[in-house]
Amino acid sequence: MNQQQIINRLNWFYSLELNQVDLYMTQSKRVGDIYFSKVFERAAYIEQQHVDNIAEKIKELGSKPTILGDVMAPILGKISGNIVSTAGILPMLKANILLEQKAISDYKDFILKAGKDPELFNLLWSNLIDEDLHVSWFSRKVQELEEKPH
Ligand SMILES: [Fe+2]
Ligand SMILES: [Fe+2]
Repeated sequence: MNQQQIINRLNWFYSLELNQVDLYMTQSKRVGDIYFSKVFERAAYIEQQHVDNIAEKIKELGSKPTILGDVMAPILGKISGNIVSTAGILPMLKANILLEQKAISDYKDFILKAGKDPELFNLLWSNLIDEDLHVSWFSRKVQELEEKPH
């Protein structure tokens, strides 16, 4: 990847991470359960760190962090209405998992193509691992909720 391609890709992640900050903050406020609320709040905080580290990297490369519009809707497709719905926690968690998995696979792809900048390499890795931890928690809760007798 040349420098411009790296910047473009960073802007895509910048947009996704920003969307996720908003999403998790909204979910944190809407959900009644205190534990879920705190988990979403903490996840939003971590996504904000990703926003910040990506923005910093874009500036270092001589460019300006740029929001590319709604990057979540194309990932979520027709379930995008469920992400902050009051319909229940399950659809919310499943939408979150989809977004996190997309981020994970794109971080992996980026790592393979990003070239030799060790700082960028570390940044992508650490963000990737955070997303993986988010998916683990969300998935465990989905499993628990689905096992519960209704
Ligand atoms: Fe993130
Ligand atoms: Fe995440």
